[in-house]
Amino acid sequence: MMEVVRATPDHVEGICRVCADGWRATYADMCSPEYIERIIGEFYNEERVLKEVTETGRDWGGYFVAVEDGKVVGAGGGGMIGERSGEVFVLYVAPDRRNEGIGTRLLDAITRQQKAFGAAEQWVSVFKGNQKGIPFYEARGFVF
Ligand SMILES: CC(C)(COP(=O)(O)OP(=O)(O)OC[C@H]1O[C@@H](n2cnc3c(N)ncnc32)[C@H](O)[C@@H]1OP(=O)(O)O)[C@@H](O)C(=O)NCCC(=O)NCCS
Repeated sequence: MMEVVRATPDHVEGICRVCADGWRATYADMCSPEYIERIIGEFYNEERVLKEVTETGRDWGGYFVAVEDGKVVGAGGGGMIGERSGEVFVLYVAPDRRNEGIGTRLLDAITRQQKAFGAAEQWVSVFKGNQKGIPFYEARGFVF
């Protein structure tokens, strides 16, 4: 059974793992290994993610996680960038669990949260040429 829930400190390690694995699997063709490891070290270390799990609000709504048998298999989050605009800041599914609908469920959770904050539109920035990300957002109705 898989559930999508707001992340707690218990999920920090899993968030770091999924996002680091996601980065390595997604950007290997687009970025140098050094750059990828630098980004992972800067953004997906447990100290930083713990703060991002506990210090949340309108600008950063916290992480949502997809959890299966206690294991984090996907993570994502976003925040409001304007009165009526939300943005997805992070969204990764474990590389061996893509295309099962997990990303869609995480995106739905983020979207629901942003609508509750008053969002009427939603944005996302995707790395140019990211063919593991762009088709997903297009399938979900995002327009370039
Ligand atoms: C993007 C990502 C989060 C999507 O999560 P997911 O669980 O794999 O996606 P889902 O299974 O929910 O949905 C897949 C949808 O996208 C479409 N899709 C995904 N990859 C596709 C591809 N390469 N070509 C065409 N369509 C694709 C599927 O057709 C499906 O649409 P449908 O439900 O209408 O059939 C996940 O694939 C991922 O982690 N990708 C790598 C990291 C990344 O690029 N993240 C975004 C950074 S901003």
